Amino acid sequence: MTVIGTGYLGATHAICMAVLGYEVLGVDVDPRKVEALASGAVPFYEPGLPEKLTEALESGRLRFTTSFDEAAAFGDVHFVCVGTPQAPGSHAADLRYVESAFAELAKRIDRKALLIGKSTVPIGTAERLTEMVHGLSPIGQELELAWNPEFLREGFAVKDTLHPDRLVFGVASAWAEAQLRAAFSPILEAGTPLVVADLASAELVKVAANSFLATKISYINAMAEVCEATGADVQVLAQALGYDDRIGSRFLKPGLGFGGGCLPKDIRAFKHRAEELGVGQAVAFLGEVDAINTRRRTRTVDLVRELAGGSLKGVRVAALGAAFKPNSDDVRDAPALDVARLLYLEEASVVVYDPEANENAHKAYPDLDYADSLAEAVSGAQVVVLLTEWQQFRDADPEHLGALVANRAVVDGRHALDADRYRAAGWEYRALGRPTASTTVRLVEHESDSVALTLS
Ligand code: UGA
Repeated sequence: MTVIGTGYLGATHAICMAVLGYEVLGVDVDPRKVEALASGAVPFYEPGLPEKLTEALESGRLRFTTSFDEAAAFGDVHFVCVGTPQAPGSHAADLRYVESAFAELAKRIDRKALLIGKSTVPIGTAERLTEMVHGLSPIGQELELAWNPEFLREGFAVKDTLHPDRLVFGVASAWAEAQLRAAFSPILEAGTPLVVADLASAELVKVAANSFLATKISYINAMAEVCEATGADVQVLAQALGYDDRIGSRFLKPGLGFGGGCLPKDIRAFKHRAEELGVGQAVAFLGEVDAINTRRRTRTVDLVRELAGGSLKGVRVAALGAAFKPNSDDVRDAPALDVARLLYLEEASVVVYDPEANENAHKAYPDLDYADSLAEAVSGAQVVVLLTEWQQFRDADPEHLGALVANRAVVDGRHALDADRYRAAGWEYRALGRPTASTTVRLVEHESDSVALTLS
């Protein structure tokens, strides 16, 4: 099999498929990515993946190339895993990389083969691409197309690929289904639930899943706004709601909200596509989900300003975290960096520290100051704001931090700190949706959201 595009999704898929025993050729137009991966280096931070890359390379079953000629000659099935970012100046998805990957393969493939899209796309794309590849390929309709949406989370990519909750095959023929079953046989044999669908349902399940997750997060964050107006505590509320199995505690963590390369752009593209299809009203609420999420960022800045005494001008703020979530160095649409930027725009003197994402954050926002350690970031700070809940920040000792800061004031943007411990150590502690004084109730975390993973 070939895997076109070696970003988070493609690199993980290529590596895991080789580990499972398939002969895999990874393809990318960027020679730097290809060189890095071929030499055993994963070009992004993903726990457990470097070890799997070494295993796959040592098996001799994984190679990388920039050549589509080589890919077309090599593969029986071709997985397309390229990005579908938000289009510039629009909420629509930018499909140019997907179209180009399918076209480059189709032009060259001269024996029966299956092209499988994994990228997140607007509904109707697979049908449109099917026509395109039939027109371009020397073998015409013998070149088939299927859609196999991917649900992996950054930080859990290996686990989610090798042990997914479910597989979804969007197919237009029994032959395509058989090819997909063969391409995933070890995972299916392990008892993974499989949903065989038409192309449109397969495309829809992906955006519907991400929209549901985004809605769940914004729901609890909307409740945080209500809590602030009533003196109720959103953390207590989330815990009580989560014990109801029908609701569940996962993705019900209140705080700074969602970011990253998927959830924000996917809900916008879905809404855009639904409007094109004449069913915009059905998902109009996604606009509200987005707005609640964006408000979390400005509300966090409000809390920092309040603790700073009403103005941020010249105030030294330690911004802890830059990645869009812990165990990732990804800063795409990162709420953390957005807050740091907003503080900077109000002329605060912001020092950012992230255990893994400093380099990417610096590329995105070179004007911000970056510290090399937690201690350096908080030294002399008038307000500390926790923006990404890395374990290192959770584990920090409030007494120890208190000795380094200029003023014991903390905004817990991720509800990740023990408010009682901080208050006992003389800190002023604030969090969105929580009263200014309360006892700590911890949200029960699902074990698969914890980083202590056994990657096997
Ligand atoms: C998300 C989905 O969870 C994956 O299933 C999907 O495959 C992926 O997008 C994708 O489309 O490729 P990911 O972007 O890696 O995965 O991150 P999540 O773990 O979903 O977190 C998204 C954001 O929500 C993060 O910023 C996180 O901090 C935030 N979040 C998550 C909350 O604010 N509260 C929560 O309770 C959970």
